[in-house]
Amino acid sequence: MENNTQQQYIDSNKDRFLNELFDLLRIPSVSADTKYKDDVIKTAEAVKQRLIEAGADKVEVCTTKGFPVVYGEKIIDPAKPTVVVYGHYDVQPADPLNLWDTPPFEPTIRKTEIHPEGAIFARGSCDDKGQMYMHVKAFEVMMKTNTLPCNVKFMIEGEEEVGSPSLGPWIIENKERLKGDVILISDTSIIANDIPSIDVGLRGLAYMEVEVTGPNRDLHSGVYGGAVANPANVLCKMIASCHDENFHITIPGFYDKVQNLSDAERAEMAKAPFDLSAFKKDLAIDDIQGEKGYSTNERTGIRPTLDVNGIWGGYTGEGAKTVLPSKAFAKISMRLVPDQNSHEISELFQKHFESIAPKSVKVKVTPHHGGEPVVVSTESKAFKSASKAMEETYGKKPVPTRGGGSIPIVALFKKELGLDSILFGFGLDSDALHSPNEHYGLFNYYKGIQTIPLFYKYFSA
Ligand code: BES
Ligand code: MN
Ligand code: MN
Repeated sequence: MENNTQQQYIDSNKDRFLNELFDLLRIPSVSADTKYKDDVIKTAEAVKQRLIEAGADKVEVCTTKGFPVVYGEKIIDPAKPTVVVYGHYDVQPADPLNLWDTPPFEPTIRKTEIHPEGAIFARGSCDDKGQMYMHVKAFEVMMKTNTLPCNVKFMIEGEEEVGSPSLGPWIIENKERLKGDVILISDTSIIANDIPSIDVGLRGLAYMEVEVTGPNRDLHSGVYGGAVANPANVLCKMIASCHDENFHITIPGFYDKVQNLSDAERAEMAKAPFDLSAFKKDLAIDDIQGEKGYSTNERTGIRPTLDVNGIWGGYTGEGAKTVLPSKAFAKISMRLVPDQNSHEISELFQKHFESIAPKSVKVKVTPHHGGEPVVVSTESKAFKSASKAMEETYGKKPVPTRGGGSIPIVALFKKELGLDSILFGFGLDSDALHSPNEHYGLFNYYKGIQTIPLFYKYFSA
C-alpha cells in the first residue's frame, strides 16, 4: 500500500525529478580546478535549495577551509533511528573534452546497448550527482506521501574527488549534529542492471608524485645522448621495476599487512557473476592482465595495486624535437586493502623509490592525498535492510561485492562518528565514471529513488 503511494508519486513526478538533476549537471562543479570555484559553490547553493524544497529543516551551506558541506535534516522523533546520508556534489574534470560525443555539462539522453531505455550523459551523472540526488528525491517521496519512518540527516560535500580534505575536520567539529545510526551512501556500483549487488568493501589509496632530475637543463640529445642519464628513461625503468613478472609489487614490506582471505571467503566471492567477454568488449581489449593467482574480481576487490596515473617530461608538442629532458615526472597511486595503512605505504614507497634511483639522477617524492580501506559487515541490521530493499525492487537478492574504488571519508565515519556505512550504489562500472561520456541509466536513477525508501522502512522497523 505504502509502496504503491510512493510509486504513484514517483511516476507523476518523473519528468521533474529528471529536469532537476539536469539543472545540477549543468553546473560544472569540478573541485580539482580552481577555474570552477564559483560553480562549485553555486552547486552547493543549488543542493541547499533542493533540500529545502524536498522538506528538510535546518538546511545550511556550511563553510570549511575548502568547498562547503551542505547539511539538512528532518527529525520526526528523536526516539526513532537516524539515517545519515552522505554524497558529493563535486565532479572530476571533464577532459579530454574532444573525446565527449556531447558536451560534458549539457546533459543529454541517449540509448546504449547496456541502457536500452536511455542514459543521462554528463560529467557527474553517475558519480555522484545522479546517485546523490536520488536520495534527495527519495526523501521528497517519503515526505510528500507521509511515509518517512525515521529521522534523516544529509551531509553532501564538495571535495570528494580531491580527497575530502575539509570533511574530516568538519565531521569532528560536528559530531553532535551528526549523531545517527548509520551512514547511507550511493556512490558505488552494482554488477549489472539485472544483477543487483552491494559493495562490502572499498580500497584505500596512497597517491604519490615523483620527480626525477638529471642534468641541469634540457640537452641536445645528439651531443649528450648516451653519455648522460635521461630522467625519462630512468623513471620508466624505476616504475617498471615496481612490478615483477607475476605482477606482484616489489616494494619491500608492501604486502606485510595485507589480509589474505580464507579459501572459503574466496569461494564465496567467486560466486559473484563476472562476464569476462563483456568486460573485454566494454574496454575494447583483447586480453586482461593482473596479479598471478587471482581472479579479476579479486584483483580489483581484495588485492592492492600500483598504477601510473600520468607521466610526462621532455618534448610532447607537435613534430619531433631532439632533446634529452632535464626532468621527468609521474603521478602514481596505490590502491590499498585491509589492513594496509596509507601513511605507512606512502613511506614505504618513498623509501623504496629513493633507494632504487641511480646516482646519475635526483629523485623527489611528494605524497598527495590518501585514504584507508574499509570493509562492511553483512550481519548488521543496516546491511540486511539494504539487501531486503534491493531484493524487493530487483526481484533478486543482491550479491555482496568488494568495490575497487575508494571513498576515503568512509573510514573516518567509523573512526570519528563510530558509524558504519552502507554502500548503496546503483551505477554500473561501465558508466564511464571519470572518463569521457560518463552516463547514468534512467533505469538506475529511478530504481534508486524507488529502492531507497524501502531501506528506510526496513531499517526503522
Ligand atoms: N564514487 C567513486 C568511488 C567508487 C566508484 C567506488 C566506483 C566504488 C565503485 C569516488 O567518487 C571516487 O572516484 N573516489 C576516488 C578517490 C578520491 C580520493 C579521488 C577514487 O576512487 O579514485
Ligand atoms: Mn563518487
Ligand atoms: Mn569519483
